[in-house]
Amino acid sequence: MHSRCVCFSFYIRRRCITKNAYCKRQIKKSVFTYNNITMKTISLLVVKLIVWFLLLGSVLSNDYKTFKKLVLPPSVTGPESAAFDRAGEGPYVTVADGRILKWKGPAIGFVDFAYISPNRTKKLCDGTNDLELGPTCGRPVALSFNYKTSDLYITDAFFGLLVVGFNGGLATQLSGGYKYLSGIDVESYTGNVYMTDASLTADSTGKLLKYDPRTQRVTVLMSGLAGAGGPAVSSDRKYVLVPDFVNKKIQRYWLQGPKRGTNEVFMTNFGSPKNIKRAVNDGEFWVAVEKQAQGLRINGSAMVLQTVPLTQFSDTTVGVVQEMNDALYVGSSQTDFVGVYTN
Ligand SMILES: *[C@@H]1O[C@H](CO)[C@@H](O)[C@H](O)[C@H]1NC(C)=O
Ligand SMILES: *[C@@H]1O[C@H](CO)[C@@H](O)[C@H](O)[C@H]1NC(C)=O
Repeated sequence: MHSRCVCFSFYIRRRCITKNAYCKRQIKKSVFTYNNITMKTISLLVVKLIVWFLLLGSVLSNDYKTFKKLVLPPSVTGPESAAFDRAGEGPYVTVADGRILKWKGPAIGFVDFAYISPNRTKKLCDGTNDLELGPTCGRPVALSFNYKTSDLYITDAFFGLLVVGFNGGLATQLSGGYKYLSGIDVESYTGNVYMTDASLTADSTGKLLKYDPRTQRVTVLMSGLAGAGGPAVSSDRKYVLVPDFVNKKIQRYWLQGPKRGTNEVFMTNFGSPKNIKRAVNDGEFWVAVEKQAQGLRINGSAMVLQTVPLTQFSDTTVGVVQEMNDALYVGSSQTDFVGVYTN
């Protein structure tokens, strides 16, 4: 019979008083078990910590919590759009005084890039947001580059659809006589230009239009839309997402495939969509949701992948959320800056 191995200080360190053979085996076993358990616990903890940090990291690197402003020149307002050129330079913004400005970095700020109206003078127009001067100064609202040709297509509240080359200057009018061209997206592969002609009230006279640069003809693809906003062609060029602002919906118009030429409701129950822009990830989009001041990242299944609160715009309106590199550029018709959200 073995004498019992009596241990003291069980919790701190297993150490036995008697040192017979059985006891030694027990000590060895218990120490081994103890070490083993400790090692297992520690490595589990380490794994858990690593996983936790990775998760935290992926959340943190994607939450757009840092905010800064790209401030417009004195008394200039209304940067409703923010586009980048083929070289990644910009943003280029449309402003209320009839110009397209280009951001040249913090040391220089915004500089003149293009203007809409041949009758515009800097003396009369720079810094104005007087709508009465619109027919003289112009009021560009949306822009989109053709990345093949580097041409910049612009929609203007008074002058319709225009285009300007990569050196900027006076834009050329391509098509006029619209109620209010509120949004634009150039599909660079074919060069086709998709635009929305807004209804200014809830009267559902809004349209999705296509401008074909080869025939220089404009065709109506969809009608019955309510309110203003801007469309976005999917990265696979199969469909266009079209905001139906007042009805709080996004419509999908098919450009290819069996449903070509038809449209359907794509997404509801998320707020009022203003401009929609392609995200950096293929097949994804950013939707500017005006009232809630949010940016929604969605995919082609209408799945909301991310919701970013745009807190600095909660007392104004959100016009556009444009993703570039690791940042979101947010434009508004009511601010004197473009907001930049980074991680
Ligand atoms: C520019 O001004 C001239 C002379 O006042 C006028 O005839 C012309 O229609 C104006 N052009 C535009 C584009 O407003
Ligand atoms: C959209 O995202 C959901 C969830 O991640 C995924 O199940 C679905 O396949 C995605 N749809 C497309 C078209 O990528």
